[in-house]
Amino acid sequence: MGVVVVSGGTNGMGRALALGRAERGDRVVVLGRNRERGAALAASGIDFLPVDLSSVAENRQVIEHLLTRYPVVDALALFANAAAPRRIVTGEGLERTFALYYLSRYLLSFGLRPALDRAPAPVIVNVAGVGVTKGGVRWTDPQLTSRYSMVAAQLQAGRANDLLGVGFAERSSSRARYVLYHPGFTRSGDRSPLPLLLRGLLAAASVAARPVTAAVTPIHQFLDTPPAAPLTAIDRDKRLPLSLPTLDPGNAERLMALTAELLG
Ligand SMILES: NC(=O)c1ccc[n+]([C@@H]2O[C@H](COP(=O)([O-])OP(=O)(O)OC[C@H]3O[C@@H](n4cnc5c(N)ncnc54)[C@H](OP(=O)(O)O)[C@@H]3O)[C@@H](O)[C@H]2O)c1
Repeated sequence: MGVVVVSGGTNGMGRALALGRAERGDRVVVLGRNRERGAALAASGIDFLPVDLSSVAENRQVIEHLLTRYPVVDALALFANAAAPRRIVTGEGLERTFALYYLSRYLLSFGLRPALDRAPAPVIVNVAGVGVTKGGVRWTDPQLTSRYSMVAAQLQAGRANDLLGVGFAERSSSRARYVLYHPGFTRSGDRSPLPLLLRGLLAAASVAARPVTAAVTPIHQFLDTPPAAPLTAIDRDKRLPLSLPTLDPGNAERLMALTAELLG
């Protein structure tokens, strides 16, 4: 039993994991924006911290708070993401998908390291799209100022998360095991920002999608028994070789440098 921090734990897979961990007796801390959903979780004994994770400043504040309040963190599970059909620029001048889906995970992974390193068997699970080979980081325009599309933004941030796993395992000198997990097409995800036609198509296709409980089952296993290796990549139930071109250490190094520079 330990402390589990869940980013994007107010809905979808994150919420299912949070409730499942609370049932198992863990102390669960959920990060998200929706206060009503947060209050409902609080009624189940879960700590809810309202935060907009697309803001670097708010990520930093919540990390400070977590480090003070929870000196030992056993697991960090990263789920927060949102679709943006049109390019959105945050108050800090960043493309929102990049900020929310990637930068927040970078900040939380490295920022919570001291608390993770105090745990007996710490683990970070980054739920994204490892194994996907389409798209990638636009090195010369990571803020996607030209040729923006929702899919390009999702694929870029997804790949950045793959490289974050590689970079964290390589650079952090943390004891925390890093798991990149692709849940496959799952019956979750906020579709409200999407165009009506796409919403309809996804609703029809979701008959074939995995139930949320099935998608989070492997995550419970990663938390119960963290892998021995510093980095593990899993697509549904299939272990992926770390030699995949999408997990290239040179690209990871390049992204870590770019991110450090961006964050000043
Ligand atoms: N569903 C799928 O088929 C599928 C397939 C492959 C990969 N994935 C990946 O799996 C992860 C979880 O997906 P899901 O389907 O469970 O998503 P979801 O149901 O849409 O949940 C997303 C979570 O992110 C939070 N969030 C969104 N914007 C936020 C912000 N600005 N600040 C803080 N929290 C924010 C939401 O909470 P609030 O509304 O409270 O902010 C919610 O808790 C995502 O990374 C997704 O890319 C999903």
